[in-house]
Amino acid sequence: MGEVVLEMKNIVKDFPGVRALNDVNFEARSGELLALMGENGAGKSTLMKVLSGVWPYPTYEGDIYLRGELKRFYNTKEAEAAGIAIIYQELNLIPELTVAENIFLDRQMTNAFGAIQWSKLFAETQRLLDELNISDFKPTDKVRDLTVGKQQMVEIAKALSKKADILVFDEPTSALTDKEVAALFEIIRKLKRQGVCMSYISHKMEELQQIADRVVVLRDGKTIGPVTPIPEITLDQLISRMVGRDVKDMFPKGQFQRGEKVLEVKNFEIDNPDLPGQKKVKNASFCAYKGEILGISGLMGSGRTELVSGIFGAPPGAARGEIYLDNKLVRFRSPHAAIEHGIGLVTEDRKRIGLILGQSILQNMTISSLETVTNMLGIINESKERSLAQDYVKRLAIKTPGLDVKIDTLSGGNQQKVILAKWLNIKPKVLILDEPTRGIDVGAKVEIYNLLNKLVEEGVTVIIISSELPEVMGISDRILVMCEGEIVVELTREQATKELIMAYATGSQK
Ligand SMILES: Nc1ncnc2c1ncn2[C@@H]1O[C@H](COP(=O)(O)OP(=O)(O)OP(=O)(O)O)[C@@H](O)[C@H]1O
Ligand SMILES: [Mg+2]
Repeated sequence: MGEVVLEMKNIVKDFPGVRALNDVNFEARSGELLALMGENGAGKSTLMKVLSGVWPYPTYEGDIYLRGELKRFYNTKEAEAAGIAIIYQELNLIPELTVAENIFLDRQMTNAFGAIQWSKLFAETQRLLDELNISDFKPTDKVRDLTVGKQQMVEIAKALSKKADILVFDEPTSALTDKEVAALFEIIRKLKRQGVCMSYISHKMEELQQIADRVVVLRDGKTIGPVTPIPEITLDQLISRMVGRDVKDMFPKGQFQRGEKVLEVKNFEIDNPDLPGQKKVKNASFCAYKGEILGISGLMGSGRTELVSGIFGAPPGAARGEIYLDNKLVRFRSPHAAIEHGIGLVTEDRKRIGLILGQSILQNMTISSLETVTNMLGIINESKERSLAQDYVKRLAIKTPGLDVKIDTLSGGNQQKVILAKWLNIKPKVLILDEPTRGIDVGAKVEIYNLLNKLVEEGVTVIIISSELPEVMGISDRILVMCEGEIVVELTREQATKELIMAYATGSQK
């Protein structure tokens, strides 16, 4: 670790009704990765946007020093010129353009006549990719054909092409496969050796040990404790810094009596729309019972999401096979039909499905639960709706000044909690959750597990997809493991170990 490159001192940032940052202080050094941790809404993304110069963030109070020099960036160009690059979770690339065009988008390489110098553009891009040891895509590839992980590498190459030496990652791994995460970490290690100063926001505790050098915690817009070297802090200490109390049981497990069979899926098959003749889901059969939490594990891309959306009727007609609900054969031609039969699905992609941007928290929480709060005359009982919503805001610790603020202004994790609240509110017969705690902080995770336990107690059948092994092992009664579109094994809670699940998920055990 080298000298102090970046210092943020006494930073305060207000939004209408919210003090997002309240006297934040920290420093980051060259050649290190500084983890920025904290609960949803703690102010992590806001702090990094203050650094980026993006409007309206330059209206903060406090001081930013770069290598000892006081700076204030009034737009992103100024921050970029000072060597700062931010890699957001929602990537900012243009899918229809090539990798090379995306990297040099705002610095056209043209000759004296204004024509783009393609060969120079591609050669320069290749040089950047070589520098990062990236060989699995080419400068001429279209960005839309790349996986999210590879698109992220394009963003990094873009940042480095601008000579950035302060790099910020805001939840970079939440949509990456294990392999892509490993590739990203390899690049980060290389950048450390080159002396780049990096700051890294993540809710994934395991990543800290692997990649971070020091950690700083934000809570309610304040820095809690000093910037601490990773070896000097235990996981428990870190969690209590984040949530302000000790968390004793990370995975509370309700004791249930397994009841009757509620859902049975037989011989489910879903074609791969991109590769004719190949299948996303092959011959999948399983049952789910009342009074249990059924976990579905597997690597990203193993067909888990396709399986559950297929059950839910999305996209319509994609799946072949049979679904029995309470022993009766049913067929859902659309998600709407599935919901009418009492099946709920919390999708993993909260940006595209689930949220209605521009609408209030209250509207988002109650949109498809209207029936439960509509009185006999068909009029929405507003005060009942409000009090239900208020209850979830409290239980899930959704950080907001009120129910009527637009959902867009909530932090990423808090938006996720609103979607979850909507479905918890509906209490369907079968609730399927696809990566429900992605991007959610530790304290709220525990609260979500508690709520799921409560739902099961009330008779709801819960099916949960999770990439996080401790989570799926901690809360499930049974676990199905998928590999390449097939359910390869069913494990009981007692049988399941990390090693066994991984062996089945990677196909090394059959
Ligand atoms: N544009 C905005 N208008 C109003 N409030 C905002 C705006 N942006 C952020 N906030 C509020 O500022 C606080 C901090 O949000 P921020 O996005 O920085 O949280 P975060 O720590 O990144 O959380 P997460 O882990 O959920 O991403 C939250 O209470 C949020 O609602
Ligand atoms: Mg954030």
